[in-house]
Amino acid sequence: YQDSHFDYVIQGYRECQASHWGDQNDKVIEIFNKKVYDFFPRTIEWLPVHILDLSETGGIKPHIDNVDYSGNIVAGICLMSSTVMIFRHKDDKNCNFSVLLEPGCLYIQRDKVRFNFTHEIPQDPAQHVFKGQIIPKGRRISLMFR
Ligand code: OGA
Ligand code: MN
Repeated sequence: YQDSHFDYVIQGYRECQASHWGDQNDKVIEIFNKKVYDFFPRTIEWLPVHILDLSETGGIKPHIDNVDYSGNIVAGICLMSSTVMIFRHKDDKNCNFSVLLEPGCLYIQRDKVRFNFTHEIPQDPAQHVFKGQIIPKGRRISLMFR
């Protein structure tokens, strides 16, 4: 695991990009089509899938995904453990909400949520609160579609 990302947004992580999936390639592409790409207009040009592995002690600081490199839609498939993601309005930090991302879920950031809210996964386990409950923090892998 790397300590910190070049722009200090992510801590305790490993990452790579993949556009080919070995001998399972056709099967994986079919799953991605059915579970992700088919929900969106065919005109979207997607980047290679970004795989992010956050260690149990890792975290992602508040940020908005680069507006030039990724489009209007950022989608993620969550694997391995539940996590809490916090969204805060960029101009009013008091306007915020938390989302529980469970293993196997697909989540989508688009429009106002994508551009007007920062998103973060707190490094501090005490901040992993959803509906008054602490959600135990573990290693987590996400597949990001941009
Ligand atoms: C990112 C990010 C969220 C996630 O890589 O920019 O916000 O679910 N990832 O891993
Ligand atoms: Mn992001």
